Parts: sequence; structure tokens; C-alpha cells
Amino acid sequence: MIYARITGTGSYLPPTTLSNIDLMARGIDTTDEWIVERTGIRSRHIADAGQQASDLALAASLKAVEAADIPAEKIDLIILATSTPDYVFPSTACLLQAKLGVSGAAAFDVQAVCSGFAYALAVAEKFIRSGSHQCALVVGAEVFSRILDWNDRGTCVLFGDGAGAVILEASNEPGVLASVLHADGSHHRILEVPGNVSGGKVVGQPFVKMDGPAVFKFAVKVLAEVAQEVLNQAGMDTGAIDWLIPHQANIRIIQSTAKKLGLPMDKVVTTVEQHGNTSAASIPLALDSAVRSGRIKRGEVLMLEGVGGGFTWGAVLLKF
Ligand code: ACO
Repeated sequence: MIYARITGTGSYLPPTTLSNIDLMARGIDTTDEWIVERTGIRSRHIADAGQQASDLALAASLKAVEAADIPAEKIDLIILATSTPDYVFPSTACLLQAKLGVSGAAAFDVQAVCSGFAYALAVAEKFIRSGSHQCALVVGAEVFSRILDWNDRGTCVLFGDGAGAVILEASNEPGVLASVLHADGSHHRILEVPGNVSGGKVVGQPFVKMDGPAVFKFAVKVLAEVAQEVLNQAGMDTGAIDWLIPHQANIRIIQSTAKKLGLPMDKVVTTVEQHGNTSAASIPLALDSAVRSGRIKRGEVLMLEGVGGGFTWGAVLLKF
């Protein structure tokens, strides 16, 4: 039996931070109390003007490659999740490949917004399990600060920039135990960036638009459901989970999901306080921070789950 196992993790946060107080100093009509009480966010990182998603991805990937103790040439598949790509094309995965100084491996982007990393990991696992590929680099990288309307206090306080990466290798030992992915495009209006480039101009609105309360309700419902579904698929129950690593959108969504699953918060990895919502980067960023701090250990069972625009949602259950 071929399993797909994470052999290294890495992450990168741009050095510039923006606290809630900094946002107020920029003239945004908000307060630290409002943001902390509603979202749990205190600060976020913002990429410098010269940093693109592929630059953040490169820094995170190099750390994952080092942690896995492999040469970058061994990577035969690159899947990168982002909603803030460097260009319309080529894919950010291809740009990352060039920056890594390797060539030949299959490379493509996955667009599933905040569920992007769960989607990318589930897809990579299927490539490895099929026997067609042996060593995947799976990345979530975002510069969400570029698609925020800084005059919309309902959205601009929520997001940040960053990247996280894992190396997923073929192994005789588990590995990913189960994965589940879903989407329902009929909910696309509650969270969207309804713009594109046409005839040399931006057509529509190139900024995040969100119905916050509708997103909150939807997220809590599907995160609890998909967690249960992936556990059922693996023939396990919540008692088997050592760590829940949810998409870091909002501490209240995370707490409600944990409560629905009957998991205490000390089994939940949270980074939203310092990172904000980094969309596709949030799960691998949280994973890497808990691995590097020594909280997550080899052999433990992890539940990774995300939900985001589309709407999309998914979960991956794995033995680390
Ligand atoms: N500072 C101060 N006041 C604010 C701010 C702000 N940053 N933003 C909105 N308000 C005000 C509103 O104008 C409104 O004022 P009013 O009552 O005078 O009209 C009031 O706060 C309440 O607004 P609501 O939108 O109803 O506030 P709510 O309690 O729903 O909280 C929030 C908003 C935090 C966005 C919440 O809906 C939420 O957490 N939703 C989930 C959204 C989310 O996490 N999105 C991330 C992307 S999606 C994903 O990753 C899955």
C-alpha cells in the first residue's frame, strides 16, 4: 500500500506587521476591542510592494525542503493554492518552480480560496497514492492585502499575507488517512472578488466583498459536517484527533466548530490572533508553527479543514 506522508513543513510571514491599533492610526473607523471581540485578530503581516505570492511561497518551500531533508530536484509535483496569483498566467506554481531552480516536475495552481490548501493536499495525495508521483510540494500562498478595499472596515481588518508549505512523499507508512472535498457554487455571492481583467482594464470590482453573518453561519455548519464525514471515511471518531488545524478565519468560527465536534480548545491550533486570515496559507502556516514549536509530534493524528469562497470546503485527516 502506498501512502502519502508529510515529511517536512515550512512557512513564511512578511516582516511588516499591521496591528489593530496601526489600522486605527491609518484612519480606519474601527477599534481594537471590536476586532478582537468579533474575530480574535490582533495583528497581521503585510507583504512589501515588491513581494509577490511566489516570493512568499519560495521562502516557505525552502524551509519545507530543508525540514524534509531532500534535494529540491526530488520534487516531481508542485501544487500551489492561491487566490492572489502573481499573474493571470503562468501559474504561480510554475513561477515558484523557476525560483526554486528546478524544472520538469508537473506544476499547477489550485483555486479554492480559503479551502485551497485542503484541496491541494487532497489532490497531491491522490497523485502519490496512484503511484504516478513520489514527492510533492504543496503550498498555500497569499497576498490578500492586494485585494482589500481599505475603505471597507467590514473586510479589510480580517486578512493578512503569508505562505505555508509541506513536502508530501510516498511512504509505506500512513500518511493521509482520508480526505473529503465539497463545493456549492450557488453561494458565490456571499464571498467574492467580482472582477477580472479585460481589454487592458479591470472590469467589475477587484476587492473582497463579503456578507459576514452569512459566511459565519455557513462556515460553522460545513466545518463540523466535513470533519465528521472525513472521520467516518477513516472509520475513526473525534477521540482519535490529537490536533485540529482549521482554516484561521475567525476565532469564533473556530471555537464554534470545536464545540460542535466536542473537542477542547487545547487540541486546536490557532494562529489567527497574530496572522489574521491568510486564506489558502492559513492551514499550512498554523501547521508549521505548531510543528516548529514542538506541540505537534510525529505519529499524532491531525485534522486539517478549510472553508472559503465558492463556496468550497474540505478536510484532510492524517497521521503526522
Ligand atoms: N470595526 C467596527 N465596527 C465594524 C467593523 C469594524 N471593523 N466592521 C463592521 N462594523 C460594524 C458594522 O458597520 C455594523 O454596524 P451597524 O450595526 O451600525 O450597522 C456592526 O459592526 C455589526 O456588523 P455585522 O457585520 O453584523 O457584524 P458581525 O457581528 O456579523 O461581525 C464579522 C462581522 C466579524 C465579519 C462576522 O460576521 C464574521 O466573523 N463573519 C465571518 C466572516 C469571516 O470570517 N470571513 C473571512 C473570510 S471567509 C472565510 O475565510 C471562510
